[in-house]
Amino acid sequence: MVVIRTLLLLALAFVVLSCGSEAAPNATGAALDGDGKGAELFNTNCALCHGRKGDLGMNGAKDLTVSTLTREQMIAMVSNGKGAMMPYKNVLTPKQIEQVVDHARSLRKTQ
Ligand code: HEC
Repeated sequence: MVVIRTLLLLALAFVVLSCGSEAAPNATGAALDGDGKGAELFNTNCALCHGRKGDLGMNGAKDLTVSTLTREQMIAMVSNGKGAMMPYKNVLTPKQIEQVVDHARSLRKTQ
């Protein structure tokens, strides 16, 4: 009886473990979903001033579709803010800032 119990416990542990390792790649996959995430973050945090297409120009916001800044300059700008634009380094993680900047860059007319 004790042997059967131990076997059952082992089987259960195995099932739990294999479920865990199956879920892990999915979770990472979702986090790596670059543009989907970036677009979502952009629409929530940035579209208010820049518009979903980046060219709204509300509150003196720059038209992102014609921006000539490099990716690094944009990351710095979004992290530290400028003028009417608030710093996002305490709002978004560095990874999220990269995702949102990559999305903003994808809105440009000239890539
Ligand atoms: C409160 C309005 C507002 C929000 C919200 C906002 N911005 Fe801005 N953004 C501005 C303004 C104003 C400027 C121009 C700043 C200046 O040059 O003085 C600007 C400039 C920029 C620039 C520089 C463009 C260039 O070519 O000079 C980038 C890139 C940018 N914003 C990205 C973002 C991103 C990404 C978000 C969301 C995380 C965001 N902004 C949210 C108002 C906003």
